Amino acid sequence: MKKKEKSAQLAARHADIFRCPVCGADMHVREQASLVCRNAHAFDFAKQGYVNMLNKPVKTQYDKALFEDRHAFITESGFYLALHTAIAETVGQVTGESSLKVLDAGSGEGSHLARIMADIDREDAVGVGVDIAKEGIMMAAKHYPEQLWLVGDLADLPIADAKSDVILNILSPARYDAFNRVLAPGGCIIKVVPGAGYLKELREALYKGTDKAQYDNADTVALFEAQYGPSERMHITKSVPLDEAALRHLSGMSPLAWNQAPGELDDFITQARTVTLDLEILIGRK
Ligand SMILES: C[S@@+](CC[C@H](N)C(=O)[O-])C[C@H]1O[C@@H](n2cnc3c(N)ncnc32)[C@H](O)[C@@H]1O
Ligand SMILES: [Zn+2]
Repeated sequence: MKKKEKSAQLAARHADIFRCPVCGADMHVREQASLVCRNAHAFDFAKQGYVNMLNKPVKTQYDKALFEDRHAFITESGFYLALHTAIAETVGQVTGESSLKVLDAGSGEGSHLARIMADIDREDAVGVGVDIAKEGIMMAAKHYPEQLWLVGDLADLPIADAKSDVILNILSPARYDAFNRVLAPGGCIIKVVPGAGYLKELREALYKGTDKAQYDNADTVALFEAQYGPSERMHITKSVPLDEAALRHLSGMSPLAWNQAPGELDDFITQARTVTLDLEILIGRK
């Protein structure tokens, strides 16, 4: 069976998760080819198996090369292992109404969601990744056909009201109005934000001596807690040895490096050997 049809079948089993981005109506899968609402707004499954549910194309700075580096770094370096284990433990304890629906809001190329779903290993669980960057979602669908992948905007999620048992929001912007609309009663939201030390070696290589070399997550945490009250927090911090290949992927995968001059990170790639993982996991409940 073709990828597109396989994804359409998976989507048909979980059709109650979708919402028409044009009119807000429920959706169903038509002829293993499209998601359609009762007002005939239709969105086709691409041959890679994802569905583009944006009303108009959006250009972002996240391109194919960045997502390729993210994919290689996340899947090959082991850098985020402790993060995946901690999130999977929390997600695995949530009970869904019928199946366990895990929405990754701002999923990028999908490796975090795929790893977490593999770690929780529950037959009744399905992951749905949404990201505004088509290049990321295309890559996610190519590598991870066991989950559902949508190009969509966090501000206007193509996801039904109160059907997501878990929302993951990993190193991505948040839209709490939209998240609260789609979160199921009793569901939880897991937001991952950088700590002050996150990738500090890369930050220092790029911004030495400027105030960009520092990062403070206090505002982001305060916004989260204004929604969900004082959150359960887990702090993961580690110094991780990385080889040259991993450092090269790291240098290409981070928005931190968007404005680097050619060759600027050569010394970082060949000299640095350990890099700091410093992440806060914030858990909120509805
Ligand atoms: C730093 S990346 C993190 C991606 C992924 N969670 C990871 O950790 O690899 C931020 C992601 O947020 C996405 N994003 C930014 N604004 C968005 C929006 N309005 N709707 C959906 N996704 C958005 C970007 O396209 C990008 O993939
Ligand atoms: Zn519609």
